[in-house]
Amino acid sequence: MRVLIGVTGSIAAYKAAELVSELKKSGSEISVVMTEHATHLIGAATFRGLSGGEVRVDLFERWPGRPIHIDLATDHDVVAIVPATANIIGKIAGGICDDLLSTVVLSTKAPVIIAPAMNEAMYLNPAVKENIDKLKRRGYRFVEPDTGWLACGTEGVGRLASLDALVAAIADAAGGRSDLKGRKVVITGGPTLEPIDAVRFISNRSSGKMAISLARVAARRGAETVLVMGPSGVPRPAGVKVIDVETGADMQRACEQEWEDADCMVMAAAVCDFKPRDVEPGKLKRREGLTLDLGASEDILAGLAGSKGNRMLVGFALETRDEIEGGKRKLREKNLDLVMVNNPLVEGAGFGSDKNSGYLIFRDGRVEDIPLVTKLDLAEKIFDAISSRLDSTA
Ligand code: CTP
Repeated sequence: MRVLIGVTGSIAAYKAAELVSELKKSGSEISVVMTEHATHLIGAATFRGLSGGEVRVDLFERWPGRPIHIDLATDHDVVAIVPATANIIGKIAGGICDDLLSTVVLSTKAPVIIAPAMNEAMYLNPAVKENIDKLKRRGYRFVEPDTGWLACGTEGVGRLASLDALVAAIADAAGGRSDLKGRKVVITGGPTLEPIDAVRFISNRSSGKMAISLARVAARRGAETVLVMGPSGVPRPAGVKVIDVETGADMQRACEQEWEDADCMVMAAAVCDFKPRDVEPGKLKRREGLTLDLGASEDILAGLAGSKGNRMLVGFALETRDEIEGGKRKLREKNLDLVMVNNPLVEGAGFGSDKNSGYLIFRDGRVEDIPLVTKLDLAEKIFDAISSRLDSTA
């Protein structure tokens, strides 16, 4: 999609850089128009570097010939003003075009998204409120600001909406893919943690990044998305219901409950295979040595397979050798539709990394080689497969 990002003079202007980078990563073509005030807060070079495209400020940059504002107004699928000040909102509401951005907005037929970011008193000022209401009635789309810490040193409403909310609104306005609309997808992620005593536990190195990428993609593509998440510090995507769990038993309970009305379960969690048979209720005292007696933990995926019916089960398989053979075995044994096999020993892939590689193995025996790709790209691929299979059985 072709997106025009309009940056205005709010202190949140630096956050527009992250948005441009995120949109670029997911393959969008970006142009940036900055107001003169925005250039006092962030440099055009930042946007030029991140977008790989032109950054414009001046309305009279390309006269004579076709005016630049007309090119910009017609060449994009969506215009998003991020962040939007009270000033630009007022100008659009009043039909004023005294710079490039306000002129483009008044000239475009593309959907316009406005993401306000300002001090709470300004945001709640009746003049601003009236302008916002007026623009909403005219079909402008608003991404409401969040409440929280504001740069002026107070708490309140006026923080720029989250990156995920902005990306989702842009994709939606540009007619982004919504092939999972009407579907419920449950995703598990992160490690599980099994207590040894009141203060110690065993766990594993899973970061939860793969599951977060999966949840982000599922939500963006319109699915009702539930993320059952073991302990992980990775920020959660917007528009996703997150159920925090610790032990394998907690995860199993949450999965069984959410699975009831789900269309698909993607098990990306690294569930601890073992857990102490006896958990000491207090703290074990220091001693010369300690032998832990570990039993097997519940196999969540295998447990769900019995009630699978027409629904889809997708697993991940961690294999440090004979990956394809191991993946095929797990697909068979756990009655899966799709399995992503990865080897955590491959450099640049696996735990903690933003990238992954391996093989996608399908139920019909097909194997797709996945080179080192971002976890977001891999999540898109996995949902491409899920979407076409769900459609074929609809
Ligand atoms: N899994 C699960 N419950 C477990 C262990 C694993 O639901 N107790 C799921 C994982 O989330 C993953 C798939 O099963 O989707 C395969 O996990 P993996 O750890 O690769 O395999 P295991 O079944 O644990 O087998 P092994 O340890 O022999 O490789």
